[in-house]
Amino acid sequence: MQSEQNELVTRIGPGTACGALMRRYWQPVALLDEFDPRFDPHVAARPVKPVRLLGESLVLFRDGAGRFGLIERACPHRGADLAFGRCEEGGLRCPFHGWKFAVDGTCLETPAEPLGSTLCQRVRQRSYPVQEKAGVLFAWLGPDGVAAPSLPSFDCFVAPASHSFAFKGLWHCNWLQAFEVGIDPAHPSFLHRYLQDASMADDEAYGRQFRAASVGEADGERWPMTRVMREFHRPEIRFEALAEGLLRLTTLRPMTDELTHVRVTQAMFPATFVIPLSETITITQMHVPVDDTHTYWYSFFTSFAGPLDKEAMRAQRLACVRLPDYVPLQGRHNDWGFNAEEQQTRTYLGMGEDDINLHDQWAVESMGEIQDRTREHLATSDKVIMANRRTLLKAIETVRAGGRPPLALDAQAAAALTGPDTIDCIAPAERWNEFWVDAAAAKRSGAAWLHAAASAASVAAAEAAR
Ligand code: FES
Ligand SMILES: [Fe+2]
Repeated sequence: MQSEQNELVTRIGPGTACGALMRRYWQPVALLDEFDPRFDPHVAARPVKPVRLLGESLVLFRDGAGRFGLIERACPHRGADLAFGRCEEGGLRCPFHGWKFAVDGTCLETPAEPLGSTLCQRVRQRSYPVQEKAGVLFAWLGPDGVAAPSLPSFDCFVAPASHSFAFKGLWHCNWLQAFEVGIDPAHPSFLHRYLQDASMADDEAYGRQFRAASVGEADGERWPMTRVMREFHRPEIRFEALAEGLLRLTTLRPMTDELTHVRVTQAMFPATFVIPLSETITITQMHVPVDDTHTYWYSFFTSFAGPLDKEAMRAQRLACVRLPDYVPLQGRHNDWGFNAEEQQTRTYLGMGEDDINLHDQWAVESMGEIQDRTREHLATSDKVIMANRRTLLKAIETVRAGGRPPLALDAQAAAALTGPDTIDCIAPAERWNEFWVDAAAAKRSGAAWLHAAASAASVAAAEAAR
């Protein structure tokens, strides 16, 4: 990749071409947990959080009526920091001269001005719409005059709160290299390799992603994913577009003449992947540019079987980060916890067995803040990364020319975009294609909430048709 092109696809601040593209999508800006006094006692009295998103400094707050507002952080009067504002019934008040702003940026009061002053009517703080979905607050930073798209009807957004859990973490690197790990189906055989298999407890403990069993059997035996990944490390990677910007990745690992391992994952433009965590749980992960050199991943866990033990999932993950910013305790400052002895005896990487997220963190952060793509050598196993970069470059041009980029969906298209399927399974070699489709369908049929959502959607469609 040319240096200019690398700049083009990585810079996302105001006024940049890629920033304009990323502003065409709803972006996660905080977990709802961050406004829950159980996890952050400060927000009980003062629900105000400074946030960075797409290179902009903003303040996210909740007013007395429970509405969320996302406004520019610098006060429009003389620029004092509204992150220190007084959170009041109807809005956020700057402590410097008392100017007060509603969640939509309306200036409500300028109390130092002469009685009868109409200055308020001429001042407006920049503000962005916020919506809550699946335990995450999403913001729309799109330009004036462009309608916000709708989020797709993906399982992660349809599942009830009992069956979904969201968490996030900060990575010290550019958004694109963070996303590119998730569309690289070859790396689990190496980066996440365990030299021995542990028990195949089918739980959702943190980091056990490749320790669960694959669906299906080999010679009457169930295999842990770790063993499949380790023993069959030369995958055949296929992909196809289910819609513009939605790629289904099928990764085949032929095991014997009779058996093939099939892993189906999805890549949703511009920065989301959907992967199986276990037989019954899916992870949808979004990569949100904080600025050019920081990225939040937001993961949505969706259960197609019973309710999730959210308290346990949260506690496991909170043990690995520092609040309030969800900064990992391990990182470049301590070599990501690298242990050379472990690398020789227990894991391929040597950064622990419990938290595979840390393995990915090392991969994306160790490249440097912005990967120098002029020096890389892309290989056959990078074919999805190449396809995604082509889509990205084209989408930047589309937005530049005033068009609508892939998956910036209108309400009707968003309602129609459901799923998407993911699976890990050991399939009969000659009919792996039907096998995984059946296995994915069986997973979906286990989700009672999915049937309820489907019948609600058909009732709504019937009513609309009347
Ligand atoms: S700087 Fe905020 S009110 Fe004056
Ligand atoms: Fe990974």
